[in-house]
Amino acid sequence: MSDSIIELKNISVHFQNGSESIDAVKNINLAIEKGEIFGIVGYSGAGKSSLVRLINLLHHPSSGDMMIGQTKTVKNGNVLIKGKELRNLRQKIGVIFQHFNLLDQSTVLGNVLFALKHSKMSKEKRLEKAKKLVEEVGLFDRIDNHPSQLSGGQKQRVAIARALANDPEILISDEATSALDPKTTKQILELLADLNKRTGLTIVLITHEMQVVKNIANRVAVMRDGEIIEKNSTYSIFADPQKPLTKEFIESASGNQEALEKILRQPEIARLQ
Ligand SMILES: Nc1ncnc2c1ncn2[C@@H]1O[C@H](COP(=O)(O)OP(=O)(O)O)[C@@H](O)[C@H]1O
Ligand SMILES: [Mg+2]
Repeated sequence: MSDSIIELKNISVHFQNGSESIDAVKNINLAIEKGEIFGIVGYSGAGKSSLVRLINLLHHPSSGDMMIGQTKTVKNGNVLIKGKELRNLRQKIGVIFQHFNLLDQSTVLGNVLFALKHSKMSKEKRLEKAKKLVEEVGLFDRIDNHPSQLSGGQKQRVAIARALANDPEILISDEATSALDPKTTKQILELLADLNKRTGLTIVLITHEMQVVKNIANRVAVMRDGEIIEKNSTYSIFADPQKPLTKEFIESASGNQEALEKILRQPEIARLQ
């Protein structure tokens, strides 16, 4: 039996804006394994966010099949779940974004508690859990601050704590480090890698920067015009890229030579190829 947690088969998303017809996601086949960090790299407009919205069924597909964990969510382009089942599915999938989408009038703790508002836990348990999450993302000393008092990296930590509040099995990061400087990006990626290692959380890391995936993703897919044009272990993508676009992404990742050497020295990544 496959250990996939996200399985997409020949799936497409189509938009019709008046006379304009866009295939944002085209015939994608993808199986993401439980516990892996999977990178999806593509320029703006490639269809990355449409793919995320498809996975949590904010966009409906025009064709194809999808499984999330043991739940068949789409068959032949038809969405099979609704109501409570759909809400449960969305709780399994935490998402973080470039723009943190925090409640400005609320504190760090308040933002995390807000994510637990539909939880069946008692008020005390929710408070306990929210505090634990704030601690886990390294913000305990900022727990009573408002977002306006935080740096970008700290805001993203709040967003991560909030995304983890309902114990998701999957965390999707949609350009979550794109507004951060390189040093802060590194710290946030370290936090994600640590969460993955400690809890086995599956992470889908979406970015337009190859650099973001190189140190932490097990595998990488490159997207262009709604399609996955190349997919491989991070090791093989860097060591032996096939498509010109993939090469371009690798070349544009600064310190590429250094990255390559580092990756070649990582036996656990080399093993996956
Ligand atoms: N709700 C929508 N309605 C119509 N077109 C959309 C919608 N969302 C995205 N698109 C189009 O789909 C394509 C892919 O967009 P998107 O998924 O946001 O790409 P990315 O996240 O890689 O930048 C773009 O051409 C975009 O204009
Ligand atoms: Mg996007």
